[in-house]
Amino acid sequence: TAAQKGGYPSFMAKEIHEQAGAIADTLLGRLVDGKLHLDEKAIDDSVLRSVDKIVVVACGTAANAGAVVKYAIEHWCRIPVEVELAHEFRYRDPVVTEKTLVVAISQSGETMDTLMAVRHAQEQGAKVIAICNTRGSTIPREADAALYLYVGPEIAVASTKAYLGQIAACYLLGLYLAQVRGNLFPDEIAQIMEDLHALPEKIQQVLDASAQVEDLAKDMKDATSVLFLGRHVGYPTAMEGALKLKEIAYIHAEGFAAGELKHGPIALIEEGQPVFVIVPSPRGRDVLHSKVISNIQEVRARGARTLVIAEEGDDEVLPYADVVIRIPQTRTLFAALLTVIPLQIFACELATAKGLDVDQPRNLAKSVTVE
Ligand code: G6P
Repeated sequence: TAAQKGGYPSFMAKEIHEQAGAIADTLLGRLVDGKLHLDEKAIDDSVLRSVDKIVVVACGTAANAGAVVKYAIEHWCRIPVEVELAHEFRYRDPVVTEKTLVVAISQSGETMDTLMAVRHAQEQGAKVIAICNTRGSTIPREADAALYLYVGPEIAVASTKAYLGQIAACYLLGLYLAQVRGNLFPDEIAQIMEDLHALPEKIQQVLDASAQVEDLAKDMKDATSVLFLGRHVGYPTAMEGALKLKEIAYIHAEGFAAGELKHGPIALIEEGQPVFVIVPSPRGRDVLHSKVISNIQEVRARGARTLVIAEEGDDEVLPYADVVIRIPQTRTLFAALLTVIPLQIFACELATAKGLDVDQPRNLAKSVTVE
């Protein structure tokens, strides 16, 4: 009903606008006396110290969250992280041992494909930690440990606040592993946590500036194809931006690793093709930023209309951007929790402008409980 939507035209719009609070709640109370605590954890620290590989299994949006988290956990913990669609993992004879930690990400905790992957991993002796939003659901019940998001119930079929919550919860898991395994010093963890805690305010800033993207979406409601490019955590963000547009606006959309462009997808670029580009922080790692700037130039030179998501103060994008969407400054890894928001808003507004049922897209279910 209208009242449940809290004045928003759809549950999806409402849930997008709840994201600052959702992330604040997910992060709440984790750092006690300088030490990180995950209270739902029931896997012994000695087991976590012996882990030699992490495999993230998930489907849909949760799999895109997993793809973001790989960058963080490998960076902080120096453990190889594989991210695999749960149904592919289950039926390909994966290498899993007692030293494998499986991280199963599922908003509902009921996705059958993910559950089957969890059971398969456990049969081979792996420990499983579930990252879920729904307390007491099947996947966290069967897993060896569970870490919950605190984003509240998600009603819209297209996942938004759970996606951010999944990333935040997995960042906590990564920091916990780094703490237990001694990869990061306590003061480093405290500093990273401080930056994490600064995110809800930055998320709110992005939401407060949503009018620009809403207007863009209305203008583009007749688009038939939209591409999304990014590197590093911007790559899974591009995938998620494309998925949202497919799911609810029924527009053909694809996300690419920006570096892969010249190996094929650039052939798609013709005059007027809209291309979102997610630009990493210019203050971040080595040459990442300049590589993405080159990619914007490449598509623009071939006629693309460039819709650029870049940090405040990044003026290097200006000569190549038809539209610049600003996000507040943060760590390279944490930008994943900000840059996706304009893409969520874009899909939501565009679908609304097309007169579609944003919350109940055709052919999709909120939770897929069959294989
Ligand atoms: C369905 C939904 C998606 C969701 C996916 C995984 O396909 O339509 O929005 O991302 O399932 O759901 P889960 O509950 O496991 O996160």
